[in-house]
Amino acid sequence: MKKRVGIEALAVAVPSRYVDIEDLARARGVDPAKYTAGLGAREMAVTDPGEDTVALAATAAARLIRQQDVDPSRIGMLVVGTETGIDHSKPVASHVQGLLKLPRTMRTYDTQHACYGGTAGLMAAVEWIASGAGAGKVAVVVCSDIARYGLNTAGEPTQGGGAVALLVSEQPDLLAMDVGLNGVCSMDVYDFWRPVGRREALVDGHYSITCYLEALSGAYRGWREKALAAGLVRWSDALPGEQLARIAYHVPFCKMARKAHTQLRLCDLEDAADAAASTPESREAQAKSAASYDAQVATSLGLNSRIGNVYTASLYLALAGLLQHEAGALAGQRIGLLSYGSGCAAEFYSGTVGEKAAERMAKADLEAVLARRERVSIEEYERLMKLPADAPEAVAPSPGAFRLTEIRDHRRQYAEGN
Ligand code: HMG
Repeated sequence: MKKRVGIEALAVAVPSRYVDIEDLARARGVDPAKYTAGLGAREMAVTDPGEDTVALAATAAARLIRQQDVDPSRIGMLVVGTETGIDHSKPVASHVQGLLKLPRTMRTYDTQHACYGGTAGLMAAVEWIASGAGAGKVAVVVCSDIARYGLNTAGEPTQGGGAVALLVSEQPDLLAMDVGLNGVCSMDVYDFWRPVGRREALVDGHYSITCYLEALSGAYRGWREKALAAGLVRWSDALPGEQLARIAYHVPFCKMARKAHTQLRLCDLEDAADAAASTPESREAQAKSAASYDAQVATSLGLNSRIGNVYTASLYLALAGLLQHEAGALAGQRIGLLSYGSGCAAEFYSGTVGEKAAERMAKADLEAVLARRERVSIEEYERLMKLPADAPEAVAPSPGAFRLTEIRDHRRQYAEGN
């Protein structure tokens, strides 16, 4: 496994509407500071039944191919990571293949493990290429989801939706991955789940945060052990985690990235050779360092704070948000990424930002993607939430975007905007 492999480019698709998070707080009789300062949110994407997982995935994948000039005949694998699938059998990936008129000579399948499903697909693609099995072909991995907890629930301000499409290849212009150094941790827990047939997730909210932090610790320590052995980081005045230029986390709500970063630092502080010389309280205070959070994490959260949770895509929105602003400055530097999916599984991995990352991100034009959205009132958001999932309203898709138009004889019909 000696090849350079990783993410060559990405594209983002978001729902056409959003609510201001302070409007939602006021409508629920909650102090807006709880949602802004307490959860770290600014805006929340709102989907309607026409913007389903397939439509969002197809929009992101089509955008990736168009913006980055991808030759479809080079795609040998199309994977969709999602936990908002629309069929027990037919994968979202097949729909995307059909809607984009992609060639038949490719593997197509979906991967599922809550928010970790996208990373599971990404790792399958990376290892497929690194092993040589891809024989020079590229993979497209799409993370597409709609986070839905329901009206008047504690999870309501942490909803969202969208998709991120990743081009994975031997030309990792965005992120050359440290293949084989991943740390993983999985456990059988009931922190968040959505039984078959339910539209809304069930969640033990505070317990889910505990599970996330515990799984992060296992995954990070696993990565650190391998990174130390490979000489990528070392125990020195700077903690191993501090030797990563930035760290992008799975972001169910922005404040979670702060909690995650504190936990990661705590792992290093507890495991350092001089740990016995400090108290748990002093380590906790040091772990919470605002300077460390500002330097390593804060810049990645711009998109997440305006879109909300996008389950499988949340980590990759954080990566996109980070590179949108810092690709040039980070070229040649190593960053860390933490994926978490309830149920649960976590994976920590690292990679080096490519020299052409800024050029690739400019083509993704993320500001324009957000600027096209419409802000809606809480009344309109509630109306959209109450629409049945199988009865999309007759709304023309915007240029380049796909929409579900109807379900005829159990077959989903889509249209693309011109
Ligand atoms: P809650 O219980 O309503 O909120 O739900 P809270 O009371 O815990 O308050 C939240 C924060 O706001 C706290 O900050 C408060 O102090 C603060 P913290 O102590 O945590 O730092 N606060 C205020 N700050 C300023 N001014 C105020 C104020 N009032 C309170 N006036 C909860 C919060 C996240 C639990 C809920 O929204 C929820 O259940 N969300 C869904 C679950 C979730 O996102 N879990 C995250 C970990 S699991 C995960 O990431 C996987 C997931 O993405 C799914 C998948 O894998 O598929 C969810």
